[in-house]
Amino acid sequence: MLSLREVTRSLGGTPALRGVSLEVGRGERLALLGPSGAGKTTLFRVLNLTLRPDGGAYAIGGEDAAGMNPARRREVRATIATIHQQHDIVPRLSVLGNVLAGRLGQWTALRSLRARVWPRADDTAEAAEVLRRVGILDLIHRRSDRLSGGQQQRVAIARALFQGAQLILADEPVASVDPGLSEGIVALLAEASEHDGRTVVVNLHQPDLARRFFPRIVAMSAGRIAFDVPAADVGDDRLRGLFGAGGTPVASPPAPQSFHAPEHATPVPVACAPVRPKEPPRRP
Ligand SMILES: Nc1ncnc2c1ncn2[C@@H]1O[C@H](COP(=O)(O)OP(=O)(O)O)[C@@H](O)[C@H]1O
Ligand SMILES: [Mg+2]
Repeated sequence: MLSLREVTRSLGGTPALRGVSLEVGRGERLALLGPSGAGKTTLFRVLNLTLRPDGGAYAIGGEDAAGMNPARRREVRATIATIHQQHDIVPRLSVLGNVLAGRLGQWTALRSLRARVWPRADDTAEAAEVLRRVGILDLIHRRSDRLSGGQQQRVAIARALFQGAQLILADEPVASVDPGLSEGIVALLAEASEHDGRTVVVNLHQPDLARRFFPRIVAMSAGRIAFDVPAADVGDDRLRGLFGAGGTPVASPPAPQSFHAPEHATPVPVACAPVRPKEPPRRP
C-alpha cells in the first residue's frame, strides 16, 4: 500500500527526513513513536501527498507519487484521511455537516452544495451509521464547536469512515483529549483497520496505548527510522533509548479549546435513535 525508499525532505533548510524507508501493507495498522522533532509530522505530510520528497521515492498503491499529475494527486488524496491533533473540523457546521464533508473531494460541486443545504436521505443515513459506530449519533445535529475535544476527534474519525478512506493517518489524535478518553479513540482507529481492512498509521505519545492497539511499532529519531518491530518487542529499554532516561515522550502542547463539554461516548443504536427532522435549509 505504502512504500518509501530512502525518502529525504528538508524544511526551511533543516533536514526533517534523512532517508526513510518503510513498507506498509494494505490493511496494516502501525503506530509511529518518536521524540518531538523526529520528523513524524513531515512523514505524514509526505504520505498524504501534501509534501513532495526531495530525494528517494514514494509509491502509494503501487503508483509512484512523483509521476502523478495534479488531477491524479487530488484523486488519490480523496482516498486518504488525515486526522490531526487540532480537531480540524468546521466549527460552524453541525456534526452531520462535518461528516458529509468527508465526501466533498469525491462529489461534484453541485452535489456538494446540495449536501450542505439539503442532504440526500441515503447520505444522511450513512452518516448516521458511522456516527453510531463512533458513539456520538445523538450529537448528529449539534454544532461542532459545542463539542469537547474527544467528541470532535470522534467526528473526525466518523468523517474519515464516511469518506471511505483506505488510508487513515492520525498525527497525535489524542494529544488534546483527556487522558482517560484517549483509549476509546485509539481503539476506534485500530478497529478501522481490524474490521474494515483500512490501512491505519497513528502517531501516539503514549507507548502503552501504541503497544496495546497496534501490532507494529515504528520509531523515528532525527529524521530516520530508529526501529521497526512487533509491538511485543518494544520494551522499556527501547523506549529509554528513543526518548531518553524517562522513556516517556512529552506530548506536544495541547491545542487551545474554547469549549469543554462533558465527554460523551455512549453508543446509541441506530434503529431506535431519535434523529431529528432536517433543519430548515440554510444558505451556504
Ligand atoms: N515549516 C518548517 N520550517 C522549518 N523547519 C521545520 C518546519 N516544520 C518542521 N520543521 C523541522 O523539521 C523537523 C521535523 O519536524 P516534524 O516533522 O514536525 O517532527 P515531529 O512531528 O516528529 O515533532 C524538526 O527539526 C522541525 O523543527
Ligand atoms: Mg509532529
